[in-house]
Amino acid sequence: MSEFKETKVAPAEGKLAVLLPGMGAVATTFIAGVEAARRGLGKPIGSLTQMAHIRLGKRSEKRWQKIKDFVPLARLDDLVFGGWDPIPDDACTAAAKARVLVMVWCASTEAYQEPGPAHQSLAAFEKALDANDPAIAPSQIYAYAAISSGVPYLNGAPNLSADFPAMIELAEKKGVAIGGKDFKTGQTLMKTIIAPGLKARMLGMEGWFSTNILGNRDGEVLDDPANFKTKEVSKLSVLEQILEPERYPELYKDLQHKVSIHYYKPRGDNKEGWDNIDIVGWMGYPMQIKVNFLCRDSILAAPIVLDLALFGDLAARAGMKGIQEWLSFYFKSPQHAASVYPEHDLFVQKVRLENNLRYLMGEELINYLGSDYTNE
Ligand SMILES: NC(=O)c1ccc[n+]([C@@H]2O[C@H](COP(=O)([O-])OP(=O)(O)OC[C@H]3O[C@@H](n4cnc5c(N)ncnc54)[C@H](O)[C@@H]3O)[C@@H](O)[C@H]2O)c1
Repeated sequence: MSEFKETKVAPAEGKLAVLLPGMGAVATTFIAGVEAARRGLGKPIGSLTQMAHIRLGKRSEKRWQKIKDFVPLARLDDLVFGGWDPIPDDACTAAAKARVLVMVWCASTEAYQEPGPAHQSLAAFEKALDANDPAIAPSQIYAYAAISSGVPYLNGAPNLSADFPAMIELAEKKGVAIGGKDFKTGQTLMKTIIAPGLKARMLGMEGWFSTNILGNRDGEVLDDPANFKTKEVSKLSVLEQILEPERYPELYKDLQHKVSIHYYKPRGDNKEGWDNIDIVGWMGYPMQIKVNFLCRDSILAAPIVLDLALFGDLAARAGMKGIQEWLSFYFKSPQHAASVYPEHDLFVQKVRLENNLRYLMGEELINYLGSDYTNE
């Protein structure tokens, strides 16, 4: 253990303001939930920062600690909220008095966009900003404002937002933590749980058909093909990276992956997702898995907003800047360095997140070699 550094994380002091562009279903469910948890009226289920334990040291040491007691996180009582939304009756308390800020994008998914010339460098981006260039989407202006002011920026939608060279350059220059994209909640969460298991057992797959119905405002926005395209790209990227068809052509080369979302008003926020997975076993025998997930979209997203706000603030106090890949655990389409592929496997993401916390606190990293007692 001695080879690891002592923690350099500054303590969590004062209020932490969580800034929320977009005061819709996710943001309001998050705030209401934090308020309820503070009063003991509900439990923050789904939040690692509030519920999870982390193992420390060797198995034989039997040391476990709650993450919130292990790393110096802001407490729920210290959170204050601020938000923006063009729909005025959703407005929330300003968080002007807080000394520390973190921003989590909870506003609508924007139309699909590839990075263009204006996104390639900070100088080009700032010039385009001055010229009111339509290539700059609203979420990019929020991200620019946050990062320029030293505020960590986490992106809950699949929008480009802070995922292009100019914004990464700004984050590095200002020493600010950024992360994204797109909260990993319903079907994609299931995919990144199920697919790594099937792949680990070398079971083949011919197809994964996902469709869902959803009747909230997010569903309405995603009914527009330009906005759905942004979400579709985010959702489709997952299986390919996990299954690696180029390395395992016998198992996955013919995989057909289809994703659709249907706006169906009567369902409101109660999303229903259907997945049909055509898998292939021993000697090519075909089998099927069906998943019918009746979920509540905002209930799954709210704990992610909380964890991202707390971990984003922790990263800032630890002096971590640029893309925070250790937060990939929370995202459908994890932002990553240009030189590497994104990691989608939920369990690899979890190990990475936990090891990052151990590292920050000067604890031994766990490598699962299993030599913890045989070598004693
Ligand atoms: N709920 C989930 O499980 C989940 C999962 C992944 C991603 N997301 C993403 O999270 C975001 C929020 O989801 P939601 O269900 O709360 O949606 P919502 O439609 O209820 O809320 C979005 C809010 O953003 C506001 N808005 C739009 N453009 C804005 C702008 N430029 N500035 C400020 N506000 C703006 C809208 O008026 C609306 O009130 C969406 O982008 C959604 O795709 C949600």
